[in-house]
Amino acid sequence: MTRTETAILDRIGRDEPEAFVQELLARMTLPEKVGQLNLVNGQGGHVGDDLAAHVREGRVGAVLNEVDPATVNELQRLAVDESRLGIPLLVGRDVIHGFRTVFPIPLAQACSWDPEVVRQGARVAALEAASRGVNWTFAPMVDIGRDPRWGRVAECLGEDPHLASILAAAMVEGFQGEDLSDPGSLAACAKHFAGYGASESGKDYASTNIPERELRSVHLPPFRAAADAGVASFMASFSDLDGIPASANHFLMTQVLRQEWDFRGFVVSDWDSIPQLTVHGLTRGPRGAAREAAMAGVDMDMAGWTYLSHLGELVESGDVPAERLDEMVAAVLRVKLRLGLFDHPWTNPAAFPAPGNPDHRAAAREAAIRSTVLLKNEGSLLPLSPGNLTRLSVIGPLADEPHEQLGTWIFDGDPSLSTTPLQALRESSEGRFAVRYVRGLETTRDRSHDGFHEAVAAAEEADVAILFLGEEAILSGEAHCRADISLPGAQEDLIRAVAATRTPVVVVLMAGRPLALESVVEEVDALLCAWHPGTEAGPALADLLFGVRSPSGKLAATFPRVTGQVPIYYAHRNTGKPVSPESWTHMDHLPRGAPQLSAGMTSFHMDTHFTPLFPFGHGLSYTRFEYSGLTLDRHEVPVDRAVGVYVQVTNAGARRGTEVVQLYVRDPVASVTRPVRELKAFRRVELEPGETRTVRFVLHASQLAFPGRNMRSVVEPGRIQVWVGGSSEASLGSEFELVEKTPPTEAESA
Ligand code: NOJ
Repeated sequence: MTRTETAILDRIGRDEPEAFVQELLARMTLPEKVGQLNLVNGQGGHVGDDLAAHVREGRVGAVLNEVDPATVNELQRLAVDESRLGIPLLVGRDVIHGFRTVFPIPLAQACSWDPEVVRQGARVAALEAASRGVNWTFAPMVDIGRDPRWGRVAECLGEDPHLASILAAAMVEGFQGEDLSDPGSLAACAKHFAGYGASESGKDYASTNIPERELRSVHLPPFRAAADAGVASFMASFSDLDGIPASANHFLMTQVLRQEWDFRGFVVSDWDSIPQLTVHGLTRGPRGAAREAAMAGVDMDMAGWTYLSHLGELVESGDVPAERLDEMVAAVLRVKLRLGLFDHPWTNPAAFPAPGNPDHRAAAREAAIRSTVLLKNEGSLLPLSPGNLTRLSVIGPLADEPHEQLGTWIFDGDPSLSTTPLQALRESSEGRFAVRYVRGLETTRDRSHDGFHEAVAAAEEADVAILFLGEEAILSGEAHCRADISLPGAQEDLIRAVAATRTPVVVVLMAGRPLALESVVEEVDALLCAWHPGTEAGPALADLLFGVRSPSGKLAATFPRVTGQVPIYYAHRNTGKPVSPESWTHMDHLPRGAPQLSAGMTSFHMDTHFTPLFPFGHGLSYTRFEYSGLTLDRHEVPVDRAVGVYVQVTNAGARRGTEVVQLYVRDPVASVTRPVRELKAFRRVELEPGETRTVRFVLHASQLAFPGRNMRSVVEPGRIQVWVGGSSEASLGSEFELVEKTPPTEAESA
């Protein structure tokens, strides 16, 4: 660009963003436009001659996986000072649940049911990543996860569209800050659009078949919430949706995202997902793939180099209209402008709080405390009282593993910052009781019983045995799916061996997914699900085990009894033959030689109970909460109005605690069948012992909308049931009638 041109752009100024983008666009050559849509992998702390040449010549618009500040600054210098137009680069990274300081995995954070935890986690991650020159994160991952065999459930915000939507918005706000141009803000990316979580058989990258109504009611809402929160970008999913891979899916990227939702940011492909259109069998080769992706609405090519090779020629030949190319480039430039990159492309690590500093770690510790779910606590074994302990035995392959507690997607996580549970328990003992550690198994996958003898001996001499079991980090995450989600290796046998000593047993589960624990749950007295809690796992768990803090997490995903129940989720539809306690029959109880139709004739598996092991929303505390006095402020609610729902929540125990009060509804008769329950609102409430609080929810009739027979969103008059309580099995209920709109009063219509 000539000096005069730069001056023109400077005069237009950044406060007229659209004019700036259009002026810039008007000055770009075809290859420069295509270059903006090329996202390439970094080279790990240096800039090779080839990459430098690409940037200098305007063939690269964005780089990922480069976190060395000097290298990022050098890349930006090449782009800003040495390329013709001086357009800065986007620098992307998978900053998923923390950067140097690692927060609990997203599925765990979802169990906090606390938007503040999620917002704060993203904020800290953004500050730490921005200090390294990153300006764009590939998060939040907002795919609905209803199949825990899928390794990426670890990364998602659970099974429920409402909870995931609230938390998705919070995560976008945390990453993007108040103003995207603040130095500590990252452009966020809602991924993977859409339906990736429904991959067949829970196998990563597998096809998905999601009817449009299900897509719109279950899978799209969190993406919509991210878009409404101002997310800068979307990422297309790898998966094939009903015959049209997401990266070529015009319905998703254009009809829904741009036309229905008016999204103005840009869409990036997933890694190589454009050339993979050919592997899917959709196109003959990369040229066709580039055309399909561009015309469907994918603006930027991640790592495929397919746009760079073909898009220019596609535009010249008229196969991709020049206007479409301009739209793609403008969408990318707008985000660069919003990020303030044209004014401050450089990073200065010294201007940021040091990654891993005590404040960031304190936030990670709080997040780990709030994300942990107490699933079972027989005889109130927990919390342990240090004064009553003489010997504590700590057993298991995950008790002292600085790396494993961090979980999946921790490219930049620093295990040397981790405090392990064993370290923290030893520290909390303050010499008051002995802590003996026995590993028992080398890894969670170890099948050998060689270490059992020592583990049993340690349990025998202890007042309590705490077992740290579950899954190493490598057992969940992208492409790490499991066909059997019970505890791997010989962990179940280890639990049985330790439980046989009759020493009370606490199992602390550290895992990237809900596990099927039916065969061992009876053996343990207390079960605390900490997921992969991150850097501060140790102090957070010590606080919870010793009652310095009380658990308050609630499951964001159902725990099945056995893998074969999957997918099992609370918001299923009723069927014409729903199971009931009366109709359920276990096959062990079927009489021999009975006529075939003797087993209840309702919807269940014969070899396990029909309920999950732990339902969505479940989570205990060290106190007890009681619900009473559910009232509605009206029983007839016009379809354009709201109803107030009031409930009294009492802390009926002797300790302070936090309850997540949950509101569910059912639309029992509608023009299309509706789920048996749907979460519509929730609130975290902290109560002193004996304290009662009235919690008020405002439920707007529009929250009861669903895609009707013609797929258009509709709120239908009729009866609505409501329940409020501490899990999806809440029993305190009421109901109201949705009625037609109230006609305007004379005054209103005048
Ligand atoms: C592939 C993953 O599916 C996506 O989530 C991630 O952001 C990209 N790779 C970049 O690492």
